[in-house]
Amino acid sequence: MLRVRQFWLSQTAAEYSSAAVSSEFALWLCQNGASPELICQCLDIAKDEISHATLAYGTAVAAGHSGPLIGNSCSLGSPTPFSEPRKNLLDVMLRFFCLGETVAVPLFAAMKKNARQLPARTAYARIIHDEPRHSEFGWVALAWMHANWPEVEFWINDCFSNSLRQLAREYYCLDEYAPELTQTQLDWGMLPRLDYAIIFEKTVRNQCARRLEPYGVDVETLWTATRASLLTAAAPS
Ligand SMILES: [Fe+2]
Ligand SMILES: [Fe+2]
Repeated sequence: MLRVRQFWLSQTAAEYSSAAVSSEFALWLCQNGASPELICQCLDIAKDEISHATLAYGTAVAAGHSGPLIGNSCSLGSPTPFSEPRKNLLDVMLRFFCLGETVAVPLFAAMKKNARQLPARTAYARIIHDEPRHSEFGWVALAWMHANWPEVEFWINDCFSNSLRQLAREYYCLDEYAPELTQTQLDWGMLPRLDYAIIFEKTVRNQCARRLEPYGVDVETLWTATRASLLTAAAPS
């Protein structure tokens, strides 16, 4: 059960990280004069992510974990790779909301499909209920930024390819767990790594490509380049 506990603890940390990013994003929206609706939706997302973290931690406890909810997490927050603050805002939104939350929808559905243990199924049910709304928030916020900031048109390709590269490193792993997942681990909601990679690629090339086409982003070409550089980096020298 060690692997199951580690999995749910890392899921807890990921949800805390999402809560931190959403909270910070709401602050940035306030500072940049976004609509009250958009700001409130973002604050609601932050609260959802805390609920997800609580459920994920509860699943780790049900699997035998007995430590505190979370350790030192002062480093949580959004990356700021660009010098222009608004470009960082666009980058975070594309990475965490448009791309991350859109991929999360089919990913968590696949995880729940295998899960047989009640705490895991309960956590996934809540997450699956919330993620389509989180993803939609990203696409609505992108439309708002595009309509209000002329720079978005010039930044969007750069920001999306940066986001794609970052998330692909996390999700597009073609090395399966060794040893492979057992039936017990599948029952507790774990997913083979190759399934992550397949779902990630499919969602990027379909939903994300369709959503970004109106902004002139050629997702297929960016994905081909990202995939090639990942495979080159992973190849034995
Ligand atoms: Fe979440
Ligand atoms: Fe979310």
